[in-house]
Amino acid sequence: MTRQRILTGDRPTGRLHLGHFVGSLVSRVRLQYEYDTYVLLADVQALTDHAEQPALVHDAVPEVLMDNLAAGLDPGAVTFVLQSAVPEIAELTLYYLNLVTLARLQRNPTVKEEMRQKGYGAQVPVGFLAYPVSQAADITAFGASVVPVGEDQLPVVEQTREIVRKLNRLFGPVLVEPEPLLSPVPRLPGVDGAAKMGKTLGNAIYLSDPPEVAARQVMRMYTDPTRLRATDPGHVEGNVVFAYLDAFDPDTEGLAALKARYREGGVADVAVKERLIAVLEELLRPIRVRRAELEQRPEYVHELLRQGTERARPLARATVDRVVEAMGIRQW
Ligand code: TRP
Repeated sequence: MTRQRILTGDRPTGRLHLGHFVGSLVSRVRLQYEYDTYVLLADVQALTDHAEQPALVHDAVPEVLMDNLAAGLDPGAVTFVLQSAVPEIAELTLYYLNLVTLARLQRNPTVKEEMRQKGYGAQVPVGFLAYPVSQAADITAFGASVVPVGEDQLPVVEQTREIVRKLNRLFGPVLVEPEPLLSPVPRLPGVDGAAKMGKTLGNAIYLSDPPEVAARQVMRMYTDPTRLRATDPGHVEGNVVFAYLDAFDPDTEGLAALKARYREGGVADVAVKERLIAVLEELLRPIRVRRAELEQRPEYVHELLRQGTERARPLARATVDRVVEAMGIRQW
């Protein structure tokens, strides 16, 4: 029996951080042998909000690929695909654009929030507004049935499902309708307590951060603003340091005990932060080691992407051909 397929991806605009890790990378690593897994380096999508910095996008591609490998993806099991080298995705996008209204894209909560963050207003690039449509092409091109994503991407996968249903209703069952897959920790706050960790927000901890940089970010973290002294009772809920411990500390019993003492005013913030620094170091050390090895082998990383893209492209070609045939155009 052939395995079901996973397709997920990253916009290469910089290195990956812990938000990417908990939102999507952990699911990729966990499911990579159970599913036929495809990871897209979405450079075309990255251009939708970096149109004037193609060099930045280009240079981020191997960085993101190395982050994926360092986080535990097995190059023997996973297919890495460069989006710009699969023009069939762009072709599908053009067909799908006719199945989506402007009003629907403007209502998409993810697009709305990202537009607000970037301050676009009416000056939003059309490509950016329409990125959920090209993401529908990413997902359907490879016939993926499962899409591991962070919480912020759920509305984008929902958009894909709508496009699939509409196309299948109009032209027959051509596309696979995908399901999103949320990880146990679908969202991680920024170290400053902002709802989301983001590169431009400067509130992220990167998978490739050296120990002292990661530690400095932990020391910056928001704790409990109502607490003045270590002997005051502390709040665990809404406390960024505990949100991270919840996400990463494998010793759940020890963590529960620490929370209890914190609530009673028995632990200083610094002690909680030191525990988090140790926990993150356990997680990041092996990632850092693997990444340093990969950095010594740029041709290997390049070749992996080239071969993966070559393997993947015929799948996308077959999907375009099926769609076009179902619509009955191009039959002259
Ligand atoms: N939009 C995703 C993000 O910003 C990246 C992405 C591109 C993606 N294509 C995808 C995610 C396809 C899942 C499936 O993180």
